[in-house]
Amino acid sequence: MSKFVIKKSSPLKGSIKVNGAKNSVLALLPATLLTEDECIIDKVPDLQDVKVMTSLLEQLGARIEYIEKEKIKITSVPLSSHEAPYELVQKMRASFYVMGPLLARKGVARVSQPGGCAIGARPIDLHLKGFEALGATVEHGDGFVEARCDGRLQGANIYLDYPSVGATANIMMAASLADGITHIENSAQEPEIVNLAGFLNSMGADISGAGMDTIRIRGVEKLNGTQHEVIPDRIETGTYMVAAAITGGDVTIENVMPEHLKPIIAKLKECGAQVIEESDDKIRVIGCDRPKAVDITTLPYPGFPTDMQAQFMALMVCADGESVINETVFENRFMHVNELRRMGAIIKEEGHSAVVSGVKMLHGAKVRATDLRAGAALVLSGLIAEGTTEVDEIEHIDRGYVRIEEKLRSLGADICRVED
Ligand code: EPZ
Repeated sequence: MSKFVIKKSSPLKGSIKVNGAKNSVLALLPATLLTEDECIIDKVPDLQDVKVMTSLLEQLGARIEYIEKEKIKITSVPLSSHEAPYELVQKMRASFYVMGPLLARKGVARVSQPGGCAIGARPIDLHLKGFEALGATVEHGDGFVEARCDGRLQGANIYLDYPSVGATANIMMAASLADGITHIENSAQEPEIVNLAGFLNSMGADISGAGMDTIRIRGVEKLNGTQHEVIPDRIETGTYMVAAAITGGDVTIENVMPEHLKPIIAKLKECGAQVIEESDDKIRVIGCDRPKAVDITTLPYPGFPTDMQAQFMALMVCADGESVINETVFENRFMHVNELRRMGAIIKEEGHSAVVSGVKMLHGAKVRATDLRAGAALVLSGLIAEGTTEVDEIEHIDRGYVRIEEKLRSLGADICRVED
């Protein structure tokens, strides 16, 4: 286990570049299973989750080669297996994304039932409902889920009870090789879904409506190899925007897509930070002395992202006033509350809401990262807490942030990684 040791830092100043989006590349990689041809994916972030996904694809028979630092070449032929094993799925739930492509390509997919995680039960019922609508039979047994379809999947109209990102991605991939037309209604509208649809269309798929609440997929017989880029990580970007705001600093972030950041920009401006879109891929955040307390409610895109909830709570902990944070996407995404309380935060949980009463100062403490974004929130809090903060179990953070301590140090933060 390793940890971050963080000391109270001066206002962050300077510029950094963000990497490709974890939640985009984790959908593009399994999509390469849909073709026997070579695919090249560029702007791949160096993340632990990417390593898990690439090793899963290799276990299925894919050949993977890094042709440049962030450029991967993948050839998924022949697929020697249709099974995603427990040890990989339990490491990373996104392993479940291989189910749709395997079902479409091989007519069968067997994936370990992903368990819950710190933030919630994370059911997969909507994924399976979609596969059954496309003509597959789904069976559960000894910790596995198996979907099978004799012959080609058949297009269908599928309504998602909740605009699930994973279910939208999985069903879209499966439907791209189905016979006929599929409509996914009440689909997720996240930018990562739009990027996946673009990737599939560049392979020869016929998908329209991605980014809206209904996606239309006209299945094709075959998909071809392609070359595509991962979009910038809007959550990594938002995390560093909050780092600038929480320290009252002045930080420019490069390689961003401002149109994906609207709710984060709006809320940072509302609490008193200046946010300047310097160009179409550069954004500057200038923090104020003490942020004003503002309320947030997490929602599916284009609402305020649940993946930014913990980081924004860290900002509100020292804000001027009382902030109400409503988490509507996951049922247990307040694990960071107790850790923040250890640093002096005053937070009252009321069901899916947390009422944060701003304090003037936090004190350093030993805390632990319960999940990826909670860990990031604790790092941000350590930057302003008096004394020293130790954030333990930082492997959670490494899943979604490329060398976070190096980027923060380049902005003047006093943070170092200590290997236990
Ligand atoms: C994706 O998870 C992201 N992960 C999550 O990012 C993100 O928080 C989430 O979307 C919401 O934006 C990846 O893209 C790899 P969902 P996913 O299916 O697809 C319920 C991070 O920090 N639901 O949109 O699992 C579910 O319980 C991670 O980067 C069902 O009920 O999220 C939840 O309440 C964390 N049945 C809600 O939908 C289903 O079959 C949203 O889940 C599927 C989901």
